[in-house]
Amino acid sequence: MIKMTGKIYIVGIGPGASEYLTKKAIDTVKMSNYTVGSTRAIELFDDVQNKLAFNVKELLDTLEKGVRLAVDGNVVSILSTGDPGFSGVLNTVLRISEEKNFPKENIEVIPGISSLQLAAARCHIQWDNANVMTFHGRENIEDILPVINNGKTTIALPSRKVKDMAQFLIDNGVKKDRKVTVCERLSYPDERIVNSTLYDIAESEFTYMCIMVIDP
Ligand SMILES: C[S@@+](CC[C@H](N)C(=O)[O-])C[C@H]1O[C@@H](n2cnc3c(N)ncnc32)[C@H](O)[C@@H]1O
Repeated sequence: MIKMTGKIYIVGIGPGASEYLTKKAIDTVKMSNYTVGSTRAIELFDDVQNKLAFNVKELLDTLEKGVRLAVDGNVVSILSTGDPGFSGVLNTVLRISEEKNFPKENIEVIPGISSLQLAAARCHIQWDNANVMTFHGRENIEDILPVINNGKTTIALPSRKVKDMAQFLIDNGVKKDRKVTVCERLSYPDERIVNSTLYDIAESEFTYMCIMVIDP
């Protein structure tokens, strides 16, 4: 019997609220045999056939399970917050698929609205001219230092607490009164946009779901 190769869709789900889901994302999940994602991501969809929900600890195992289901001939949607290509699961899924000899041409990326885009929109920033940096899940925080004073706005996904990132910049010679906007829980009902200075942000508490927009 010839085994059919399945298909993997890596689906961007936007920053969190259902109004930022694309129709393409909704239609793709609807026609998939399996949908893999965090509980929060899966809950955004009304029409899901088989759910494989994960928490952060189980992420890799569940992604592997999803890829195996596609190897077995299923159509699998893998959900990624924001856009899959910006600090999302894209590279991880590509790596697992390659390990399992799942063909790249059977993988399709469905873009989503990134939290970066929504932060830029909230701050009225033309982000094509900004320093866009992500430190999420990385410890390369010092990479921000060569660009922070290059005259452009810096939009950053912090690697640690926002207050620690602000303190790191102050400790490394960035002026305390530098203007910074923290965009927290974008698109959710409790969204907060805080316009402040590095000094005040270093003294404030935020959740992990934040983007920092640092003025030139
Ligand atoms: C794993 S990264 C995913 C980024 C995602 N791929 C994107 O394009 O927005 C998770 C980080 O993105 C940022 N983030 C995601 N959703 C957010 C939201 N609704 N509001 C603010 N920041 C958000 C936070 O910094 C969070 O820690």
